[in-house]
Amino acid sequence: MLEKLNEIEKKALEAMAQAKELQELNELKVKILGRKGEITLMLRGLKDLSPQERSEFGQAANQVKDRIEKLVAQRINEIKARDLNQRLEHERLDVTLPGLPINRGGKHPLTLINEEIRDIFLSMGFAVAEGPEIEKDYYNFEALNVPKDHPARDMQDSFYITDEVLLRTHTSPVQVRTMEAMCPHLPVKIIVPGKVYRKDDDATHSPMFQQVEGLLIDKNITFANLKGVLMLFAQKIFNEDVKVRYRPSFFPFTEPSVEMDISCVSCKGKGCRVCSHTGWLEILGAGMVHPRVLQYGGYDPEEVTGFAFGMGIERIAMLKYGINDLRLFFDNDKRFLQQF
Ligand code: DAH
Repeated sequence: MLEKLNEIEKKALEAMAQAKELQELNELKVKILGRKGEITLMLRGLKDLSPQERSEFGQAANQVKDRIEKLVAQRINEIKARDLNQRLEHERLDVTLPGLPINRGGKHPLTLINEEIRDIFLSMGFAVAEGPEIEKDYYNFEALNVPKDHPARDMQDSFYITDEVLLRTHTSPVQVRTMEAMCPHLPVKIIVPGKVYRKDDDATHSPMFQQVEGLLIDKNITFANLKGVLMLFAQKIFNEDVKVRYRPSFFPFTEPSVEMDISCVSCKGKGCRVCSHTGWLEILGAGMVHPRVLQYGGYDPEEVTGFAFGMGIERIAMLKYGINDLRLFFDNDKRFLQQF
C-alpha cells in the first residue's frame, strides 16, 4: 500500500508541475484529494489493517496530502502571476479614447411647453400662482358662479371625494383663492399652471391633464387688454404671422365669454384635416371676470374689472409639435420622448 501511495504521489506531483491552467490544477486536486479521490479511497481501506500498520500508513498518507496541497497552492500562485504578467504585457490602456456615452435624460414635451408658456407670461409681468389639486366644491364651482344644480356643472364630469370635496376640474378655482389672499392689493396678475381631473378618457381626452389659467384684475381693464395679451401669447408660442379670432361663448365665471381660435398651424388657414377644413383651431376660453366672481374674491366690481383665460396645454403641445394622439404623452415610450 505504501508503494501505491508513493506511486500516486509521484504521478500527482509530475502532473501538477506540468499543469498550465488553473482549471487543470483544480481537476487534479479533486481527482486525488477529493471526496472520491485516490488517496481518500485508500484511507477508507485502513479499517482492514492492523493498528500498527494503520497508524504508519495514515501518517504517510497525511504527509502526502500535505505535500500535494502545498504544491497545488504554489502552482496556483505561479499561474496567476504568469497570467497577470501576460496581461500587463499585452493590454494597453489608451486614456485619450473617448468615454462610453452616458444616456442623458431630457425634458418631457409637456414640461417644455409649460416652461415656454410661463416664460411668455412672466415676460409680460404675470406671476405664477398655485392651488390644491384636491379642491373644495366651493372654489371649484360655487365661487365661480356655478351654484349646485346649475346645468353648467354638466360640462365638467368630476371625481368627487365627498359631497364638498373633489379633484379640481380646472385651474379656475385658483382665481378666487388668489383674490382672497391678495385683496385689496392691485393688480392681481397671475398665471396658474397645474394638473386637473375629469371623468373622461379617449384619444383626445385624458382623466388627468394640464391647464394654464390666467387672471388680470386692476382698475380699467378692458376686453382690449385681453385681446392684446392673448394675441401676443399666440404669436410667441406659435409664430409671428398666426391669426387670431374670438367667438362668443359661455362660461359662468366670465361675462362676456369668448373662445379664441388661431389660424390652423398645419395649413395656415386654407383648410385641412387638422382643422376639420375650417382653417381655425380652438385653443382657449376667456372672458371678462364676472362681477360676482370679483365679489367672491373680495373686490368691488364697481371699482375694478379683469379678464381671465384658461387653456389645456396638451392641446397646445399637440398643435405645436404635430402630435396626433394625446396618449403618447403618457406612454413614456423613449422613441417618442427622444424627439424633443
Ligand atoms: N375653466 C375653463 C375650462 O376648464 C376654461 C376657462 C374659460 C378659464 C374661460 C377661464 C375663462 O379663466 O375665463 O373649461
